[in-house]
Amino acid sequence: MAEKIGNTPPAGAASAALDFTGKVAFITGAASGQGREVALEFARAGADIVALDIGEAPEYPHIVDVPTDALTSLAGEIEALGRKAVLGVADVRDSAGVQVVVDTAVATLGGIDILFNNAGVLGYAEVDSMSDEALNATIDINLKGPMIVTRAVVPALKAAGGGVIINNSSIMGLRGGRRLSHYVASKWGLVGLTKSWALELAPFNIRVVSIHPTGVNTQMNDSLATMEGSTAEEIAVRSAGNLLAVPWVETEDVAALVLWLASSKARYITGGQYVLDAGLLSV
Ligand SMILES: NC(=O)c1ccc[n+]([C@@H]2O[C@H](COP(=O)([O-])OP(=O)(O)OC[C@H]3O[C@@H](n4cnc5c(N)ncnc54)[C@H](O)[C@@H]3O)[C@@H](O)[C@H]2O)c1
Repeated sequence: MAEKIGNTPPAGAASAALDFTGKVAFITGAASGQGREVALEFARAGADIVALDIGEAPEYPHIVDVPTDALTSLAGEIEALGRKAVLGVADVRDSAGVQVVVDTAVATLGGIDILFNNAGVLGYAEVDSMSDEALNATIDINLKGPMIVTRAVVPALKAAGGGVIINNSSIMGLRGGRRLSHYVASKWGLVGLTKSWALELAPFNIRVVSIHPTGVNTQMNDSLATMEGSTAEEIAVRSAGNLLAVPWVETEDVAALVLWLASSKARYITGGQYVLDAGLLSV
């Protein structure tokens, strides 16, 4: 057997609690759902948090409704855990607004170590009747948004001597979806960004991965049930695709995967796609 490389963890270390003390995690779409849970879980593990969200319900799809005080109440929970929180009310499509949040985070918390590109929107639309609003919002928020945020955050990761970027794609970033071509394109696009950034940023000790959850128990998933034009059959098919007997996974499951990927236990993992699909993609 060849010599082990680097500072190999001792036996049992894989099950030890993850520790992000001294780290700063920057999370987009932090006011609800997966972003909120990931922010809290990083704080529980010792990290300070930059929580960015649009601060008002996006114009598309109209059904997404995040309370205006959601970021403030998240900050209270983070501070109750003994961690610092920087709140950023910004639209991921707005380069100047995002830059203000990044500059404030660096000035207040001293830097950024982890980026979770998570903000996103979802709606159904047929290819031949898709509105400009649906097309533009989906591509601009889900695909261009992570590009704008990452462009602004990478200098801080380089200054920190390394870091981790985790892109929240979807199972829809690894398969097709009827009446979801705009969403699917945005989520496959994140795979291309993940691989390209992994190549470009490896020399700076910055790892980049994407995660691919099946339906997650959030308002986005709930809203599909009531979204205009969403059929009962579509909803049933989505849940039935999971091999394990669950209709969806929980935000805690997403947070567990994100924290592990962000941790030093995943120190040689970059460029890859990590499914949390209850087996859906196995068939
Ligand atoms: N819920 C699911 O079933 C599921 C499955 C796989 C992947 N995803 C992806 O997970 C991510 C998080 O979704 P969620 O399930 O937590 O839904 P969610 O609707 O609870 O959270 C999305 C958050 O993004 C924010 N947001 C939307 N547009 C924004 C913008 N322009 N700028 C800044 N913030 C904006 C919203 O305000 C909201 O807080 C999304 O990218 C989604 O596509 C969701």
